Amino acid sequence: MTLSAEMKSEVILVVGSSGSIGSALIDQLAQRKPTAQIYGISRVLDGAKKAQANVTYLQCDYASEQALSAFVSQFKENQTHIDQLLVTS
Ligand SMILES: NC(=O)c1ccc[n+]([C@@H]2O[C@H](COP(=O)([O-])OP(=O)(O)OC[C@H]3O[C@@H](n4cnc5c(N)ncnc54)[C@H](OP(=O)(O)O)[C@@H]3O)[C@@H](O)[C@H]2O)c1
Repeated sequence: MTLSAEMKSEVILVVGSSGSIGSALIDQLAQRKPTAQIYGISRVLDGAKKAQANVTYLQCDYASEQALSAFVSQFKENQTHIDQLLVTS
């Protein structure tokens, strides 16, 4: 994928990616939107998650200002914006 194509991809952030609703939502989004770049955050990263090419799981406790700041820095290394923010927590 070229850089320009990546920049045009829809970027979706799912908060609560390890939860019942969040994990089901990510599964559906990954299948239905194969060109989207999907990010999931939760405090605990589940090592048993399925490998989904267009999904990136990041650890973040949104109640912690320090963790949020670290997440934003990490996220901004690869993305400039969020098209959809889905909070399932
Ligand atoms: N499931 C249902 O049938 C249902 C029905 C009606 C309403 N709801 C509501 O919908 C929401 C989601 O339900 P669910 O069943 O998917 O809940 P869940 O399985 O408990 O999932 C909650 C998610 O939020 C994450 N989370 C919690 N605190 C966090 C924090 N400080 N920072 C980052 N991530 C955090 C959890 O991951 P970590 O613990 O790893 O951080 C987990 O991924 C809840 O508010 C629930 O009350 C659910």
